[in-house]
Amino acid sequence: MKKKCIQVEQHLGEQLRLMLVEHGHLDTDYPITKDGTHLYFPLRHKLSSNELAELTQNLPNLKQVEKELEPISKKPADLSTALQGILTDDLHQFLPHSLDIVGKIAIVELNEKVVPFERLIGDAIMVVNSHVSTVYAKEGGVEGVCRIRPLRLIAGEGQTQTIHTEYGVKLAIDVTQTYFSPRLGTEHDRVASLVQPGEVVVDMFTGVGPFALLAAKRQPVQVFAIDVNSHAIQCLQKSLELNRLVGEVVPLVGDARKIIQNQLLGKANRVIMNLPNDAFSFLDAAAEALHKNGGTIHYYGVVTESVTIESLGTIVTDELANVGYDTQIKDSRVIRPAAPHEDQVVLDLHLTPRKQ
Ligand SMILES: C[S@@+](CC[C@H](N)C(=O)[O-])C[C@H]1O[C@@H](n2cnc3c(N)ncnc32)[C@H](O)[C@@H]1O
Repeated sequence: MKKKCIQVEQHLGEQLRLMLVEHGHLDTDYPITKDGTHLYFPLRHKLSSNELAELTQNLPNLKQVEKELEPISKKPADLSTALQGILTDDLHQFLPHSLDIVGKIAIVELNEKVVPFERLIGDAIMVVNSHVSTVYAKEGGVEGVCRIRPLRLIAGEGQTQTIHTEYGVKLAIDVTQTYFSPRLGTEHDRVASLVQPGEVVVDMFTGVGPFALLAAKRQPVQVFAIDVNSHAIQCLQKSLELNRLVGEVVPLVGDARKIIQNQLLGKANRVIMNLPNDAFSFLDAAAEALHKNGGTIHYYGVVTESVTIESLGTIVTDELANVGYDTQIKDSRVIRPAAPHEDQVVLDLHLTPRKQ
């Protein structure tokens, strides 16, 4: 089809591209083309004489022309392809290589070099991932007691709530008010598959409840799912309705230690402790939640160059010995990188109370 374009000498192309992006004139559905001496930038609409005058003030010798152009084929395979001709070649190396998709929301970490182009990158993420309707950039790491990540909206509708499906279970999530990482999906599935029919499980730091929901979906069990963040527990309540699991999981808002001491002493066959930076200080409470014959604890921690997974195992079993338990480490594994030189790990522990 015939498309209005701005013709510019090749050496002025980058300056013009930035101005067109800034004014919202560049039509990114069409390619930027070139002939021997000129580049042609496709326009969203025909520019008025005032709009053209504004551009020629800074860049003389621009012309508005018509070119025969076909739209860029839809659904490029990846972000770099989607941004071909839109971002200069030297910026492509700074594009994100991975992103988290939570339901209809994408969350991306941007290199500072491409932050000025975040709107274009966000739009391109939605083109490549057609079910995504909102894109946020990470503004730092997870923080505070509730482990929430600050986010900045860069493209799309700006929704904060979504439904994410993990191993067939629907999870209601508010990405601005609750912790959730789709990168833990395999671990949620692994632990849920270890749960046996009839067990009582205490999920001490449940967040929006992925461990609790997956376990309850698969087996007739009772799960007590605790979180100090009331927004997370509201999401869990919604998920219980979505998955018809009301009654199988008991959502509890508050501090895990207090809730265990007030109502869950000696009840559990299995305790899940996914609070990697602080689980250690709750080990005594987790042990108290276990049945009088003992049981299983899934302990999440962080290892560094100085604290290996083996030394973490020793520190944790020593602490449990101090509170009266013999501990066997049944399994230990790295779950994912947590930061440069830091990995998130899990220890599957079997505890037996020491004979007095
Ligand atoms: C790393 S998130 C884990 C969420 C969840 N287990 C998952 O896999 O998605 C830790 C959660 O612990 C909660 N939390 C922190 N301190 C707590 C406490 N003292 N008692 C109960 N929950 C707590 C936070 O609000 C957060 O939702």
